[in-house]
Amino acid sequence: MKRIKAIYPGSFDPPTNGHLDLIERGSKIFDELVVAILRNPEKDPLFSLADRRKMLEAMTAGFDNVSVDTFDGLTVDYALRVEAHAIVRGIRAISDYEYELQMALMNRKLQPDVETVFMLPAEQYSYLSSRLVREIAQLGGSIKGLVPELVERKLREKIDVAHKFANSEPPEGTTPSEGKKKSRKKKA
Ligand code: PNS
Repeated sequence: MKRIKAIYPGSFDPPTNGHLDLIERGSKIFDELVVAILRNPEKDPLFSLADRRKMLEAMTAGFDNVSVDTFDGLTVDYALRVEAHAIVRGIRAISDYEYELQMALMNRKLQPDVETVFMLPAEQYSYLSSRLVREIAQLGGSIKGLVPELVERKLREKIDVAHKFANSEPPEGTTPSEGKKKSRKKKA
């Protein structure tokens, strides 16, 4: 019998409970699911690729048919390379649909043999995004329940380091305001 393999591509910066929910759902309908982290040098991610990979590996350790990989270039080329039949994308709300539809149709134009499958995460994650998690964590808000505990810990560590850096003495030879400016720039 043909085994159906899917990839679940994304930035995962950081991975959230919404991603995990989708991974769990995907693992039930596909024989094999590869969580594929985009290596994107244009973006300035909060977490390194290695950190994101480690977090996702830990989060998916309990699923026999889920693996984690990284890729660059076109998603459809990666899908072909790993012999995947489908690309999984999550749609949280109607606002996601337009962008996802455009991407799915373009991917189909590029590679008609790879299907995009849209899946809906649990309702409680319909307003959750990595961007909001980063912002809330950076501004000192609670991200409990939004990300797995291990991601929460990693986020706190990262933000504590950034705060220490921002509050440290300005480098010698700079005025306090220059020092502050430099620290803020590094934090962004
Ligand atoms: O988690 P994200 O940032 O929403 O994921 C977006 C991602 C990685 C799926 C998308 O940017 C992508 O597929 N990038 C790879 C380059 C590519 O294939 N571009 C053409 C898309 S039609």
